[in-house]
Amino acid sequence: MTEELVLQWLREVQHPGREDKDIVSLGMVSGVETTEGKIIVTLAFPKRPDPLKNYLVGAAQAAVYRNAPGGTEVEVKTIVREAAKKPSINDLGLDQLREVSHIVGIASGKGGVGKSTVAVNLAIALARLGYKVGLADADVYGPSIPIMTGTEGFGPEMVGEEGHELFVPLEKFNVKWMSIGYFAQAGQALIWRGPMACNALKQLVLQTQWGPLDFLLVDMPPGTGDIHISLVSDIPLSGAVIVTTPQDVALSDVRKGVDMFQNPSVNRKIYGLVENMAWFTPAEHPSEKYYLFGQDGGRKMAEELGIPLLGQIPLVQSIREGGDAGQPAALGTRPDALAFLDLASKLVEVV
Ligand SMILES: Nc1ncnc2c1ncn2[C@@H]1O[C@H](COP(=O)(O)OP(=O)(O)OP(=O)(O)O)[C@@H](O)[C@H]1O
Ligand SMILES: [Mg+2]
Repeated sequence: MTEELVLQWLREVQHPGREDKDIVSLGMVSGVETTEGKIIVTLAFPKRPDPLKNYLVGAAQAAVYRNAPGGTEVEVKTIVREAAKKPSINDLGLDQLREVSHIVGIASGKGGVGKSTVAVNLAIALARLGYKVGLADADVYGPSIPIMTGTEGFGPEMVGEEGHELFVPLEKFNVKWMSIGYFAQAGQALIWRGPMACNALKQLVLQTQWGPLDFLLVDMPPGTGDIHISLVSDIPLSGAVIVTTPQDVALSDVRKGVDMFQNPSVNRKIYGLVENMAWFTPAEHPSEKYYLFGQDGGRKMAEELGIPLLGQIPLVQSIREGGDAGQPAALGTRPDALAFLDLASKLVEVV
């Protein structure tokens, strides 16, 4: 059972008060959670009372029951949407980014290459070099910044007048952090439909009170699909850093990532490539380098694509442990911290 399927069933529910449009097209379905044997649907209603609320809740429940496999438990929750208060994405404009000098997307062609690890450590390294830095965790599908920075459970405050409210980012390690993860309860999986995911990302970047920043890094969701193209066209990224691992097979993914930013409708600069897990160094033999995935794959890739190689980050246990413990490696003085400081200075040079 996928949320896509459940949404399809919910399209059978028409709102008699709204020209018989279905509740999905009316944007009333704000969430669908499917777990083994249970489906939870969340319907959003405007603040003013909707006389059809009970009817719609019942109809939504019935539609899901009717289509779901026998024995499935169905729950329909309701929330109040404060439509008047939240400005729409189109109204948000780019005011919040007025004082931000460089907006840098951290992207990768595919998942799991260490994009978030690089983003967090790069942010901290830039701050250590004296720059004002913010990081927006735009990975709606798997926000990892709260864990990596030890900021889980933070609930962003809102400031500003009605219609122009802004989220206040969290400041830690001299970096301003904002993550989609701060809006979900711990351990709760985030499920977004395409357009919802897209808007959430834009909101995160455009509706946060960043203040003056030299660098705003945006940890992009993995992949190169429609969401990405829409995101990079709506957020005024100054350029992108592509993270990869050294294997030959990664080249085609990197190429896709590069193509996405250089696509004529997007047309953003590529600052360069970061080769993560470039070699393995065991904790007990800090001077040794084992090229598990081949040597200099990143350098060759960068040459082939005609973009600079900004840095090489070793595969070391302390980087993983730092991420898990909310104490990123870049805070320290070990060789892995220095690799991130090098990367930061190289980025500054290129930008
Ligand atoms: N250089 C490294 N040395 C050791 N471990 C690393 C290194 N880079 C990343 N990792 C570990 O690899 C895992 C994946 O990294 P990370 O979450 O940063 O990848 P990602 O590209 O952001 O993934 P996703 O596509 O899911 O967002 C994490 O456990 C992280 O700690
Ligand atoms: Mg990530």
